[in-house]
Amino acid sequence: MTTPSKMQQLDVQRIRADFPVLDVEVRPGVPLVYLDSTATSQKPVSVIEAMNNYYRTQNANIHRGVHALAEKSTADYEAVRGKVAKFIGAAKGKQIIFTRNTTESINLVAFTWGRANLNKGDVVVLTEMEHHGNLVPWQMLATEKGIQLEFIPVGEDGLLDMDAYAVLMEKKPKLVSFTQMSNVLGTITPAAEIIRMAHDAGAVTLMDAAQGVPHLPTDVTELDVDFIAFSSHKMLGPTGLGILYGKEAILNEMPPFLGGGDMIKRVELSGFTYKEPPHKFEAGTPAIAEVIGLGAAIDYLEAIGMEAIFAHDHELTGYALERLEEVPGVWVFGPTIEHKSANAAFTFEGVHPHDVAEILNRAGVAVRAGHHCAQPVHQKFGITSTTRASFYLYNTKEEVDQLIEALYQVKEIFG
Ligand code: ALA
Repeated sequence: MTTPSKMQQLDVQRIRADFPVLDVEVRPGVPLVYLDSTATSQKPVSVIEAMNNYYRTQNANIHRGVHALAEKSTADYEAVRGKVAKFIGAAKGKQIIFTRNTTESINLVAFTWGRANLNKGDVVVLTEMEHHGNLVPWQMLATEKGIQLEFIPVGEDGLLDMDAYAVLMEKKPKLVSFTQMSNVLGTITPAAEIIRMAHDAGAVTLMDAAQGVPHLPTDVTELDVDFIAFSSHKMLGPTGLGILYGKEAILNEMPPFLGGGDMIKRVELSGFTYKEPPHKFEAGTPAIAEVIGLGAAIDYLEAIGMEAIFAHDHELTGYALERLEEVPGVWVFGPTIEHKSANAAFTFEGVHPHDVAEILNRAGVAVRAGHHCAQPVHQKFGITSTTRASFYLYNTKEEVDQLIEALYQVKEIFG
């Protein structure tokens, strides 16, 4: 990943006006400085209104009724599949499956494709910087089926060791599952190269795009990736909604996931037949309002443009790294800015990350502290937790300055 040659300026003040929560005072006289978008992004009015409007004017279950509202809701829900497909460069809406979150999308692959295709002794390659959502499902499958997990090492520089990866490919893995962008280090992994090398070795590929899709222009067709998993709530949409993209031929071959209403063609007491993808993977009433909200979120992101959003996040992250370096006792993890965006996870010498976050909170600065659902990558660096500031399209350099000022207060308090 290279630094964009030309910074495309976002009109951040205009963008901020679209996000009501950014006007909140966390305490009287203390405005919110929201630097926790990696945990969840804020939502623009258009997303809130789309969901509000859905409940006020057309709420009905989908794929079931023939009445006017049911038909409109069904059409609107299904239309968002096409919108998601276009946003990530997929050929067809039916390659988009709605789940609850990224974690469920990855579990879906593990428990359908994984159970059907992986056997004792088969190798699955992950990386040492995975979120638990792309680690525990494979550990569970390893326990159940006796598959062998291998990990691409992370270097001191916060980058994947691609030479070690090349050696792992000699084991002819069945699956390579990796993050597009680390939620701790901010590392942007060389996805195209990882996928090409995996395919050369005969492996299927899954990209955990929970951080990637919200921050990076992503084209699944260009990447030739087999599956990607991501979440609505990190890309301005509502919580409770995840997305799984899969190649059509693979989705067709996969067994269903959860059993129940809407995924079936016919049910008798003696058994059932199921629908084609994507419906065979979506049992029960889905998150209809949330899907409609996601559609509005994609409209919003597209109106601004993912190239411009990436450029903004990247410049802001670079600025944050420079300013964090000035603060005595602060140590930022992860690669240099050329290979990173959106996140700065750091330790503060002699102060627990939760205490740092608490002092920042007093100044209205919202960050996350802890292991960020990625304990192994912390262990790799010999620590248990970090304080993490994260940046998105509505953040400003002034907010980074407020973070730095608050860090000097930490220094004053803890000495
Ligand atoms: N995965 C989310 C984070 O990194 C929740 O904070």
